[in-house]
Parts: sequence; C-alpha cells; structure tokens
Amino acid sequence: MPAAEPVPTTPPAPGYDDSERAAVHRVIRERRDIRNGFRSDPIPNEVLLRVLEAAHTAPSVGHSQPWDFVVIRSDDTRAKMHELAMRQRDAYAKSLPKARAKQFRELKIEAILETPVNIVVTADPTRGGRHTLGRHTQPQMAPYSSALAVENLWLAARAEGLGVGWVSFFDEREMVRELGLPEHLEVVAYLCVGYVDEFPDEPELLQAGWSKRRPLSWVVHEETYGRRALPGADPHDLLQETLAGIRPLDAKALGEAWERQKRMTKPAGALGMLEIISAQLSGLSRQCPPPIPEPAAVAIFAGDHGVHAQGVTPWPQEVTGQMVANFLGGGAVCNAFANQVGAEVCVVDVGVAGDLPATPGLLPRKVRPGTADFTQGPAMTQEDVLKAIEVGIETARDLVAAGNKALLTGEMGIANTTASAALIAVYTGVDPAEVTGRGTGINDETHVRKVDVVRRALALHQPDPADPIGVLAALGGLEHAAMIGLILGGASLRTPVILDGVSAGAAALVARAIAPEALAACIAGHRSAEPGHVAALNKLGLRPLVDLDLRLGEGTGALLALPVVQSAARAMHEVATFDAAGVTEKG
Ligand SMILES: Cc1cc2nc3c(=O)[nH]c(=O)nc-3n(C[C@H](O)[C@H](O)[C@H](O)COP(=O)(O)O)c2cc1C
Repeated sequence: MPAAEPVPTTPPAPGYDDSERAAVHRVIRERRDIRNGFRSDPIPNEVLLRVLEAAHTAPSVGHSQPWDFVVIRSDDTRAKMHELAMRQRDAYAKSLPKARAKQFRELKIEAILETPVNIVVTADPTRGGRHTLGRHTQPQMAPYSSALAVENLWLAARAEGLGVGWVSFFDEREMVRELGLPEHLEVVAYLCVGYVDEFPDEPELLQAGWSKRRPLSWVVHEETYGRRALPGADPHDLLQETLAGIRPLDAKALGEAWERQKRMTKPAGALGMLEIISAQLSGLSRQCPPPIPEPAAVAIFAGDHGVHAQGVTPWPQEVTGQMVANFLGGGAVCNAFANQVGAEVCVVDVGVAGDLPATPGLLPRKVRPGTADFTQGPAMTQEDVLKAIEVGIETARDLVAAGNKALLTGEMGIANTTASAALIAVYTGVDPAEVTGRGTGINDETHVRKVDVVRRALALHQPDPADPIGVLAALGGLEHAAMIGLILGGASLRTPVILDGVSAGAAALVARAIAPEALAACIAGHRSAEPGHVAALNKLGLRPLVDLDLRLGEGTGALLALPVVQSAARAMHEVATFDAAGVTEKG
C-alpha cells in the first residue's frame, strides 16, 4: 500500500456555485445535433463572434491551436458541398443491410442548404513546428484538438439558441479540393449552423430508433479494464450484472397479447405458433403490440477446437479462419441469407487458431487461439470461459445499442459439432451415440471415432451439469461460451434471440443452466439435421420455426426464421380487430 497522502489543510480552489454549475450541465445535456427544423433568420455577427471565441478557447496539443474556421454563406459553395454529401449518402445507403437502409432512408443527415451559415473546422498538422509538445508521439492530437474546438462551438451555440449539425458525409480530400483549402490542412468538421424551431430532448437518431443510449455503468472501469464500477460503487462483474438484469416475461403485456390475438380479424389460434411468438415478444418487450424485430443482426462467433486433433472431421482446421474471411467478403451462405432478409452480419473472432488480418467488419475478440483437446484435459480454463461469455454479452450490448431489435446466433468452428454433442449429452443425459451427428458430412468410421471421442471426454471429465462454467471449461468451445453470452445479454436487454442449429442448442442448454429465465428471450429458429439438436430442443421445450434439413451453422437457420418472427410481430400491429374493422365475430 502506498503511504496515504496527508489531507491538505487549505481548501481547494472553488468550483462554481450551484446555479452556475447547473447551467454548465444544462448546456451539456441540452446540446443537440440538429438536422431538422432550421430557420432562415440571419445570425448576428456578435453572436457568431461569441461562438467562434468559445471554439478558439479550446484546449490543444502543445497549445498549438491547430484549427481554422472557414465561415461559408455562399449559396454556390453550399450547393457544391450539398452535392458531395448527397453522393456519399447514396454510397453509404448502398452499403447497408436492407432493413438498415430502409431506416436510413427516413433519416435526414445534413442541413447544408437550410442553414444560413456553414462552418468548416480544419486542423493544421504542421502548426507549431516540428516540436509541438505532445504531438510527436500521437500525430492525431492535432485533429483531436480541433474536435474539442467543435465541441466548444457546439455548446456555445446551444447557449445562444443556435442549432448545429455536424456533417461527415464527405470524402475529406475531395472536400479540401472543392473548398480550395491549402492541401496540408485536414478537414475535421463541416457544421451547419442556424436558429431552430426547437431543440429535441433526445438525439434524433435515438428518437428514430437508429440507436440506443449506452448506460454510464457500461463504460466506467475501476483501475483495470473490465472492472466496471461507477465512482463509489463496488466493481461488478459483467456476467453477474447481466444475470441480475434477466427477468421473466411481463405478465401484463403477455395478457394483453393473448387478448389482442382473440380480437384480431382471424379465427382464434389460426396463426398457430406465430401467436405464441408474438405473445412472447410482447412479454419480452413489455409492450403490446411488441416492436417489430427489425433491424436484426446475426453474430457469428468463430473459434477452433483442440479436439480436431482426434480426427473427428475431414476438414482442416484452417477452414475456420478461411470461412471468416469468406463471411467478411460476403461470399458465404449466411451473407446470401442475410442479404435476403435484410440482416447485418457481425463476425467475431473469439478463438480462431491462427492470426486473422484486421478487416472491416471483423471484431477481434480472441480469448485464446482455439481450445485444447478435451480428450486429454480441459478444453480451456474457467477464466477463458468467463472471458468468452463476456465477449458474447458485449456483442449483444453493442448490437442492441446500435439499434438492432433481434439478435441471431451464428457460429463457425471446424470440429465444433463434437463439442456441441458433448455439451448436449451432459445436459440431456442422452447417450453420446444418439446426440453425435455427422456434422459437415463424415463417413461411418469417422462417426464411430467421434462418438468414442465424446464418450471418452465425458468419462475423463465427469462433468457436473450443476456447474455450467465447469462443464464449458471441460468440454465447450469458445464460440459456445460467446453464444451463451449473447443469449444472456439479449435476455437482459429484453431483446429476442433467434437460435440457429445444434451449437446454438448446446449453448442454450448451458445458458439455461446459468439463468433459467434467459430462455424466455429465445426462439428456436430451425431444427437442424444433427441428431443432437433434436435432443437439445426437446430438453429446452422449444419448437423450431423452420425444419428444412439444414446442417450448416453460420446462423443460416436463424436467418431463415427471422421473417417468420417479424411477421408474427407485424401481424399484431397491422391486423385489424373485429370491432375496428366491423367484422362480425363467430357466434
Ligand atoms: C464526429 C461526428 C460526426 C457526425 N456526423 C454526422 C453526420 O454526418 N450526419 C448527421 O446527421 N449527424 C452527424 N453527427 C451527429 C451525431 O449523429 C449525433 O451527435 C449523435 O446522434 C448524438 O446526438 P446529439 O448530438 O444530439 O446528442 C456527427 C457527430 C459527430 C460527433
């Protein structure tokens, strides 16, 4: 323990009094990015001057003050910039999954032509000479400093009743050329400034359902990353916090859903399973009708398996990493299905054996490069299991905060049906011979060996189903643990989780052992041709929505089920009730 610092005897420099402090926090809270409702009232020079003074007072690296502000009022220049932004808007829209693109079409992302003043904020990376204090290690400190000037400008503008909208839909170099800026400058921000009809209470993107606020408690860590704690609170463990947030379906919303089903213009029960799904979605969201689970994202967790060494599959281990590249390149079946149903594909390396190159769209979250061979010892440590579960929880948080309203499980891992079979045998009590399938297609000899591998592993580890983390450490895969995290995370965020095939079934069994209520968030997307999956679904009491002999993984079965789940929710919104439609009910 370091020696305690003596408490100073003189008081520290004073802060502000209560009302001044409240004013500071008010402007921080009420600053908004504005794109709608701008007015054409001119901005008086003295007001603009105060706002620019505030910007110019920002902190900067080595006090280099690297910013310049180009104030643009010309119709011509604004028209040119508007055209550039529209081009980028189109390019971005084309890159989006269908459901996102639909949402994006409704969004306004700039107000270049509607505002009387546009301000370009630049950074000069050469300002202050070669030896600018602090910039030598991190050249990006120059644009960071200019970004702080933007925030000052934004806050001061809010205090003046001026709205500001930041537009980043530009190719930065194209912009430098079009604006005739010196080539050595970087454009940090393009701001649309003007008086507004009103300042919305919440970010416009949040109001439009594009994103959600992340709570402060998710992002404050005590001493080391991962020990999340708000000042004064004890550090909490991500898994424990997640488990504490898992609650049963809301009885009131469930009741309303059943009631509404009866009044919809269709014979009672005529939508079969879809009525159950829509009631589940109501109970989960605590809303009737429930939100339509769109947009949705499939999280594909990739990991390798030490048990591959036992010859349980003819596929070489490198295929896991190669398929990850295929997912990222858009060439896999999951990509085709995701395109068809408008879902986002999120690829997570939670434990691929080899190093994967950084690629846009890949979340590098490797806990370890593959598990160990579980016929020889534990697949991994309990610490690894917890880390991989956390990867899944954080993926759920990120995808939900980014506006996704349904999560789909996906996975990739050569040899992972062997680990799935072992987990299913533990949690169903069914003999390994009955739950061990042919995975990617193996011959009789390999199948016999695979069953024997599972049997030997169970004999070696004597897994105790009451100790799910221990079971995972002994027999699981990193992608199983991450899928469990996704299920638990989804359940705690009251977001439906559509399960894919046999590996997701295995993960759901373990998730249920950790938190039985988590199952309330789960929907079985499909039934795979793997025998273990049937055993898992039976044990879970889940009825699959799609049954087409798929045995691929990658989230493909869950993706096919997504429109079914969405249709169930949409029916609750759009189907008229007997009284509203004037249809006579059955006598
Ligand atoms: C670096 C940066 C770039 C941004 N670019 C855009 C943009 O191109 N178009 C847009 O509509 N909003 C843009 N915004 C605004 C954000 O969408 C907005 O800050 C966020 O949704 C939170 O809302 P709030 O600022 O009202 O709190 C940008 C914000 C920042 C900080």
